[in-house]
Amino acid sequence: MSLPSPATPAELSARAERGLLDRLGATATVVGWAPGRVNLIGEHTDYNGGLVLPVALPHATAAAAVRRDDDRVRLSSAQAGDTWSGTVDDLAPGRVTGWASYAGGVLWALREAGFDVPGLDLHVHGTVPLGAGLSSSASIECSVAFAVLGLLGVEPDLATRRAVVDACIKAETEVAGAPTGGMDQTISVFAEAGTALLIDFTAHAHQTVQLALDDRRVLVTDTRVSHELTDGGYGTRRQDCEEAARALGVATLRDATLDDVTRLTDERVARRARHVVTETARVPLAVEALASADWSRLGELFAASHASMRDDFEISTPELDLAVATAVASGADAARMTGGGFGGSIVAIVPSTQVDRVVAALDDAFADAGLKAPAHLLADPSGGAVILP
Ligand code: GLA
Repeated sequence: MSLPSPATPAELSARAERGLLDRLGATATVVGWAPGRVNLIGEHTDYNGGLVLPVALPHATAAAAVRRDDDRVRLSSAQAGDTWSGTVDDLAPGRVTGWASYAGGVLWALREAGFDVPGLDLHVHGTVPLGAGLSSSASIECSVAFAVLGLLGVEPDLATRRAVVDACIKAETEVAGAPTGGMDQTISVFAEAGTALLIDFTAHAHQTVQLALDDRRVLVTDTRVSHELTDGGYGTRRQDCEEAARALGVATLRDATLDDVTRLTDERVARRARHVVTETARVPLAVEALASADWSRLGELFAASHASMRDDFEISTPELDLAVATAVASGADAARMTGGGFGGSIVAIVPSTQVDRVVAALDDAFADAGLKAPAHLLADPSGGAVILP
């Protein structure tokens, strides 16, 4: 297969260490590594108490760090030109902006959670495509948190991992200003290689799911129509869902049925709620199909999920619709848009022997439509965040 392989954790770690030296003149003592993710199914359900089924990408961020002997903090990134510099006390909502709000936000949130965050120099190097709906931000956040655990000599046991997920969510919502739902940070920390993670946002529980992908690959195609979760679309969808739950008198839409949805008088709000209710119902069915290699069933479920996001939730784009239709027409078993929407990527399950053909068909379709060439990657499910020595 012609798609480039992502850097290994060791290669990415070496790049982050090199960057720390070149940009900040400091030598790393620890590196945190954390992956991006692609969601197989269960979209916009996390903040509705629903189910999601992401896998971690082999594409990740490495954060190289060293403790300082004063209270200064310097943050730099291979993906950004500027360096943020201040003190540990300067790390607060509204005081760290741009890309640094993700890294600095995590340091602030970890302090709020009682971790004794020291002065430090830190450099991140990531291979998760930016703005592609693949959680580059959660990957930065979790890599920074794991670097801090390494500096503090704290073991990432279960309780610590949970605290890290919470701190990274808090950083993203309160410092970076993206009102996201928690799926991305949970998979980045709790992923296990070769499996997907079924996360239940009402039970606050997760379990690994075996995937019968022996002769199948997970292909991700980035339409390169960039999306920003801090733009209005994500937030207004979330408000519509909250309004639906309020109108139905339920805590979250997880507790609503399709019958309930028909009682909603606002047509737009009803469609948003219908997406959430039907999407959560599709997740356990997709788990079954993925575990039993029932690709035609998975194809139906992905198609219904995509249509629901396009028509009821209204978060697809013509480029995403084109990519999904082209992938299925050229040999994919199943394809749907993935992530927050308004651009970004599709995810497809493709017979291993058909990957080249599907990629070529997608490239041709985008060229014929006069669009920028899409970017592809293979999402072989990777493990979750680690502290590298
Ligand atoms: C973004 C958010 C997630 C989730 C998805 C949609 O990735 O960060 O919390 O809501 O959108 O499923």
